[in-house]
Amino acid sequence: MTSFTEILSQNEASIYTSPDQAISDINPLMYGGFTEHMGRCIYGGIYDPKNENNLIDENGFRTDVIDCMKELKVPVVRYPGGNFVATYRWQDGVGPREKRPKRPELAWLGTESNHFGTDEFMLWCEKVGAEPYLALNMGTGTLEDALAWLEYCNSEQDTHYANMRRANGHEKPYKVKYWALGNEIWGPWQVEQDTKEHYAKKAHQWAKALKLLDPSITLILCGKNGHSDWDRYVLQESIQWIDMHSIHMYTFGREHCENVTSPKAAERAIEMTSAMIDLARCDFDYEGYMSGSIDTSAKKLTRPTICFDEWNVWDPTRAPGDKGAEELYDLSDALAVAVWLNVFVRQAKHIGMATIAQSVNVIAPLMTTERGIIKQTTYWPLLLFSKYMRGKSLATHVRSAAYKGKTFPSWLASTMELPLLDVSAALSEDGWMNLAVVNISETEAMSTTLPEVAGPVEIFIVGGKSNHIRDNNQEGAEKVTIRGSCWDGHGKFTFEEHSFTLLRWKLRTCRQ
Ligand code: AHR
Repeated sequence: MTSFTEILSQNEASIYTSPDQAISDINPLMYGGFTEHMGRCIYGGIYDPKNENNLIDENGFRTDVIDCMKELKVPVVRYPGGNFVATYRWQDGVGPREKRPKRPELAWLGTESNHFGTDEFMLWCEKVGAEPYLALNMGTGTLEDALAWLEYCNSEQDTHYANMRRANGHEKPYKVKYWALGNEIWGPWQVEQDTKEHYAKKAHQWAKALKLLDPSITLILCGKNGHSDWDRYVLQESIQWIDMHSIHMYTFGREHCENVTSPKAAERAIEMTSAMIDLARCDFDYEGYMSGSIDTSAKKLTRPTICFDEWNVWDPTRAPGDKGAEELYDLSDALAVAVWLNVFVRQAKHIGMATIAQSVNVIAPLMTTERGIIKQTTYWPLLLFSKYMRGKSLATHVRSAAYKGKTFPSWLASTMELPLLDVSAALSEDGWMNLAVVNISETEAMSTTLPEVAGPVEIFIVGGKSNHIRDNNQEGAEKVTIRGSCWDGHGKFTFEEHSFTLLRWKLRTCRQ
């Protein structure tokens, strides 16, 4: 949550926040990842059994990727897609490798060896220290398949699929908590694309059955972009059955400011989705009350949160999906990712989970080669946020000039204020104040009055005057990383042009 006063560019900018102004807990699941059977994400990314440079463990998993995922403290990982899931048969990916069938793959038009499947993913999550989050096939898959997968993963009973898991060497159930009811079912590119009416009916019936088998699971409804009639309708039809509502958005812009302000569209989408969630709940209560069929005091109707399970900068014309979507990110993209994360911290009240799409090689902060790993520009803001922007989200007030140019999407310019200083603040549990600031301006450094700061202040900067906005990181030439320094906290602070700055200071007294 932030409020904003627009000023002329020649006037002094200021940022206000206070440890007394907590607005919400920040859910750690905000820093989740996503691994799809797409391009080189799984094969050649997290699983690379033929690697000859000593970069794998006994399972064929890339240890450099695992180390980075741990460094990023990734708490949850979505799998196996994405569009891939719409034709995925989970049964093909378990049991002895030599017996697993090779299949045509219709989302990205490749072939699927099934050499990496459920048990490998569970093991990989364990190595990373992340919780698994599985998406169900609501394209060609049946409810029977979905129930079988849930039984395979979670059941302790003496039944067929639970025993199949045991026979495959996994006595204990995996207790997978997060399950998605399909992926982007509304999309024309989807195998078995569906209407909102039919999907909502199906989602309701699937949710009921899945929760009969395992009432402890968290079910995620398939929404769209958070600002569509699909979102409204499916929420209104399924509100009593689901725990989270999924939305997806990719942002980009050919020009720097267009690119970096584009994630503000996600902020508006989150606001609209949260209103739609409340609309569905009010409607549910009202209808129930009027018909006398619902004792609203007894009915469990916790407020579903938003699961932003695909977000990132992506220009599909630059990096097409069927060619592996290997985006080479530049500093401008890293600043856009920092704005994305500011959006999530500001809107923390509504966010139950967010998973960047994707974690490795495919539109990802990490790129593997035969020889090693490249941390793209976007890795650095992700790392700083995941390390420090935890605990409680704090209200902020910003006074700065605003961006007035072209936006993507075009409705953004007339809908949202676009301050040149994009800000979020967090109070961590150990009493540190953390202030995340993106100076969007390509050319102007911004001298800024800050809230009461108790020095010494730790400073981390990504980008700034020593970089060009088109700088990127390639093998052997990493131009964008983190610059660290220290400041006594006196006077004004100057945010360098095109930079992301994280300021941290320890509170002297504990004020909650
Ligand atoms: O993340 C890449 C793709 O983008 C996903 O498979 C799909 O869900 C979305 O369209």
